Amino acid sequence: MNIILLGPPGAGKGTQARRLVEERGMVQLSTGDMLRDARTSGTEMGQKVAAIMDAGQLVTDEIVIGLIDEKIRNGNAAGFIFDGFPRTLGQADALNELLSRNGAQLEAVIEIAVDDQALVNRITGRYTCGNCGEVYHDTTKPTKVDGVCDACGSTDLKRRADDNEDSLKTRLMEYYKKTSPLIGYYYARGDLKSVDGLQDPEKVAADIAKALA
Ligand code: AP5
Ligand code: ZN
Repeated sequence: MNIILLGPPGAGKGTQARRLVEERGMVQLSTGDMLRDARTSGTEMGQKVAAIMDAGQLVTDEIVIGLIDEKIRNGNAAGFIFDGFPRTLGQADALNELLSRNGAQLEAVIEIAVDDQALVNRITGRYTCGNCGEVYHDTTKPTKVDGVCDACGSTDLKRRADDNEDSLKTRLMEYYKKTSPLIGYYYARGDLKSVDGLQDPEKVAADIAKALA
């Protein structure tokens, strides 16, 4: 089963993708994580996209389509969760083509619907474990022991350079200009299912499970 998690920055795409990986053995393909890995490893592409990402703008379709192409080629029986991809109509067309070229198809597009006002608090309070990727929040999901990841014990907890109010404003504008048209596109294709992302993460997960049943 191949699915897309669609929603604005802070909607909870990464949080829900991690649960689907644990519960169903699916593979999470987050273009944001792939781009951040490229930056950390200092590749030429990583250096090229760093300033664009920190400002909250989208990187080119060509770069992200190339990243996804490479992953889809390797295949995977339990299916892929596309997290943060596609983000433009061009990327959506490319995904159709890449999947059909590999004899696969899209089963569902889950829109995680949230209200913009909730996003500032979610984004500015977020931190993640640099070792295992677990996602935390200052008030709604802090680590049990200060500075130590609950999941793996690492003390490498980080905040993202684009998780500030200025970059978030640009990320939201990019979302409404370029990504939100995908909601209508997938609705028209009959693939769209919408869940209320303002509920607590357990309830969001239960609604996603229902939508996928
Ligand atoms: P990316 O990494 O994809 O960031 P994003 O879309 O802005 O999404 P986020 O990771 O910020 O949010 P999320 O929905 O995953 O929320 P999370 O679960 O962490 O992209 C970063 C940048 O890379 C882009 O700006 C762009 O430059 C580039 N890029 C990436 N893909 C691209 C593409 N395809 N094309 C072009 N450029 C691309 O949750 C957020 C917080 O809220 C956490 O603290 C969490 O604990 C909390 N939370 C989650 N769920 C709930 C809940 N139900 N209730 C309360 N709190 C919750
Ligand atoms: Zn960890």
